[in-house]
This record gives sequence, C-alpha cells and structure tokens, in this order.
Amino acid sequence: MLSTSLESIATVLRRAREVVVFSGAGLSADSGIPTFRDGATGLWNNVDPDEVASIEGFLRKPRVVWDWLLQLKNLVDDRHPNAGHEAIARLEDLCKGKRLTIITQNIDGYHTQAGNAQVLEVHGTIHRVRCHRRCGFAAVWEQSAVEPFSCPNCGGPVRPDLVLFGEMLDEEVFAAAGIRSLNADLFFCVGTSFTVQPAARLPVWAKGAGATVVEVNPHPTPLSDAADYSIRAGASQFFGALCARLQENGPGR
Ligand code: APR
Repeated sequence: MLSTSLESIATVLRRAREVVVFSGAGLSADSGIPTFRDGATGLWNNVDPDEVASIEGFLRKPRVVWDWLLQLKNLVDDRHPNAGHEAIARLEDLCKGKRLTIITQNIDGYHTQAGNAQVLEVHGTIHRVRCHRRCGFAAVWEQSAVEPFSCPNCGGPVRPDLVLFGEMLDEEVFAAAGIRSLNADLFFCVGTSFTVQPAARLPVWAKGAGATVVEVNPHPTPLSDAADYSIRAGASQFFGALCARLQENGPGR
C-alpha cells in the first residue's frame, strides 16, 4: 500500500461530505470468521449453500439450515470485532460533519458492536429470527433455540432474519443502500469478492454517480480495474493507517 495513495485518499476524504464503507466477509476474517470463497477455508468450499443457506433448503429440511446457521451464530458470538471494525468505527469519529454510512453484506453485527451508528445490513443479521410469513413476529435468536419452531403469532415457520439464497433482499434496506451509494463522494469497498448480486451493484452505481471508489482487498477482484484506488492490503492494516494519517493532519471539514 503506497503511502502516496493513503495521502491522496485522506485528501479526498477531507473534502467529502458523504462517505460509504461497503464491507464483505473479508473484513471479519481477522476475527476468525471464515470467508465464503477463500481457498480451503472458504465456507462454500466445504458445504453446499443450497443445502445449508437457501430458502429451498430451509423449506425442504428446516433443521439442516437451522443447525448450520446456529453453529455459525455460535462462532460469531464467541468472536468479536477486530482492528478493522474498530478503525472503521474510529473513522466515524474522525468524520464529524460528514455522513458515514456502513453498508454491509455481513450478518455478524460486528460494525454495530464496534460502535458505528449508521449500519445497513443488506443481507440481514444472524442475531435475530423472524416469521417466514412476515406476520410481524421477530425475536433475538437465543442460543437455547436449538431447532426451528413455529411462529407464536400465526403458526408459520420461524427462520433466521437473514437473506437466504433464492430470496430477495429487504427492499427498504437495499433502497437506502442504493441512495447512499449514489450520493457518495467517497466509497470504500472492503473484504468482498463482488460475487453476489444485487449488493455487488452498489460500488458500480457509486462510481457511475461520480464517487471516488477505493477497494481494500489483499487480492484483485472484478472491481479492481474500475476502482480509483485498488489497495492490496488487509482491512485492519489499511483502515488503521488511514485513521492514523487523519489524526496526524486532521480530517478536515
Ligand atoms: N481484508 C480485506 N479483504 C480480505 C481479507 C482481509 N483481511 N481477507 C480476505 N479478504 C477478501 C478476499 O480476498 C475476498 O475477495 O475478502 C473477500 C471475501 O470474499 P467472499 O468470501 O466471497 O465474501 P463476500 O464477498 O462477503 O460474499 C458476498 O456471498 O455467500 C454470500 O451472503 C454471502 O454476504 C455474502 C456474499
């Protein structure tokens, strides 16, 4: 990561009014949460997402999906936000007078735990369950809830409040994410392979609407050529260095 890139990114940030951080599983890798597609440890390289994380799978064998997501939830509960999440939370403090929106594909809730206030979870959260019929029932997913159960309101199936493969995203959440992306002056993309639509459209919309796009990923991705800056570094390293630079020279207004 060239320090010249860091200084010019910091300069763009100082002038920006609307800033977005768009995150994927790579941001939580340093917390010990496996990503989905990285090498041998990638979750989808070890299980079939259609079996354990799709709506067809849930309606066919709810217990299989529930069990797999419950073990992922238990891992998330056992771990915690890492230096990358903490630096992005610190960025919010350094961006007083600007609007910093987190748009995350991650379901671990780590951005909120680290202290960011405006977090749009476009793929939902592993910390809540809801009625599949959307009758209104929702609740914190307690570790004691070890198997799927029926909605106490309407009797429908209860499932984790996250987007399963084969499902649409929450329209309101994704519309808000789209608007923030189109209004962004500076759009960071961190820890994502840009594999899954429609979330992967957001940085393209931001770029098309005139944002400066900064990709932070140790490996190249389909977005790398289009990004204004493609930083080959880990999330913790980059955002820690950016915050340090801003604290040295001031974040500007
Ligand atoms: N810092 C930054 N990026 C990293 C780091 C790190 N420390 N470690 C890995 N990465 C990068 C990898 O190079 C890869 O490009 O993170 C990316 C992770 O890609 P995926 O595993 O595909 O995760 P993601 O892009 O979030 O997947 C999108 O797919 O399965 C669905 O709903 C799921 O939200 C998920 C979506």
